[in-house]
Amino acid sequence: MITHEENERLTRVGPGTPMGALLRRYWQPVCAAAELTAERPKQRIRILGEDLVVFRQPDGSYGLVAERCSHRGASLYYGFLEDGGIRCPYHGWLYDAGGACLEQPFEPAQSMMKHTLRHPAYPVQKLAGIVFAYMGPPDRQPILPRWDILLWESGTRTIEIRPVLNCSWLQAEENTADVTHTYFLHAYTFAKRGRPQMGGGFGRPFAQYGFQPFPWGLLKSWIYEGPRGGAGWGNLLVFPNMLRLEGAMHWRVPIDDTHTRIVRMEFRPSPDGSPAEQPGEPPVTYEPSWLNEEGEYHMDTFSSHDGMAWETQGPIFDRTAEHLGASDFGIVLLRRMLFDAMAAVHRGEDPQGIVRDPEQAACIDLESWLAERDYSAGTMEHAMQVRRRAREEVFDESHRVVDIPSTSTARQGTS
Ligand code: FES
Ligand SMILES: [Fe+2]
Repeated sequence: MITHEENERLTRVGPGTPMGALLRRYWQPVCAAAELTAERPKQRIRILGEDLVVFRQPDGSYGLVAERCSHRGASLYYGFLEDGGIRCPYHGWLYDAGGACLEQPFEPAQSMMKHTLRHPAYPVQKLAGIVFAYMGPPDRQPILPRWDILLWESGTRTIEIRPVLNCSWLQAEENTADVTHTYFLHAYTFAKRGRPQMGGGFGRPFAQYGFQPFPWGLLKSWIYEGPRGGAGWGNLLVFPNMLRLEGAMHWRVPIDDTHTRIVRMEFRPSPDGSPAEQPGEPPVTYEPSWLNEEGEYHMDTFSSHDGMAWETQGPIFDRTAEHLGASDFGIVLLRRMLFDAMAAVHRGEDPQGIVRDPEQAACIDLESWLAERDYSAGTMEHAMQVRRRAREEVFDESHRVVDIPSTSTARQGTS
């Protein structure tokens, strides 16, 4: 359990807040490159409580600026992309992608105002079909991390944007530290709805779970029993707001304190592992609402299960009312990491996971931290030649494991 003040510290993300300052130190996805076309080169986007406009110039470069014009506040979303920048539709002030004001058409020639004014603007970079932005202090800008899954050439990528999550980003990310939820929320739910096969491996009798920090965040481990049992680890929590699965990566980007955008990239390996040409930018799809006609969660998909659990915790879950158990140790670790990282930012240091070494940033290996699962959907067998770590290389004395009692319902399996 944590105090109200600690909960506020963990969940408020606007400018000037400790968590807002922390999350602004990391490159965050803004949109899919495929969302900005020649016909629709601009998009409004709210991130970390800031209303912004992202745009793609005719020369293919990108910009991200505050939506409200610095003159009298009209929306730059309705502006014109021209002369290397975006021109406000109200009185024509022209800004470049760095926020410099290039022109104020009605001001006297001798006016110095445009030289002193800086419109809020953030650097953007495109990688693997995602437009990323850095919204932190310019002098602390790190290298954009090149996660392995963004670089692989032996397949193609797709991007899915989930329905806006009506709650704090932390509820989604704490779920990434939660290894046991898969049994009831996913496998049991499917079994009760008459589709036990949909639960995949998560419905196996659950015998043990564990947690261990690793250099990029947090690892979870599990031991299942029964004919399809087995020991595994992975489903990486990548600090601070990512999830890495085999073949997919998720970013939980705070829209504001109580709304979150989930961007999911999936890598589809070519059947024989040969290099595959991605035709154009990775295509983007939008997952339909998780609600049915009655306004209830339909519970037909993994993401509707998760969405139900996260949103029903409330817009900002009141963590002063929770009761954490041994199975929540991953959540405790995540919060510790977040508090430590906020303290590091406060001291003027880099928080965990910031990349400054170009060699390290060239390709960040996450794949080798995953154990191959014993069910085949989505394995990267042919696509990757990464040597995965053996169990004894991954786990050390910090691996906290818990046995699930033999009498527990979770030891029975869901089907
Ligand atoms: S409000 Fe933008 S130029 Fe006047
Ligand atoms: Fe889940």
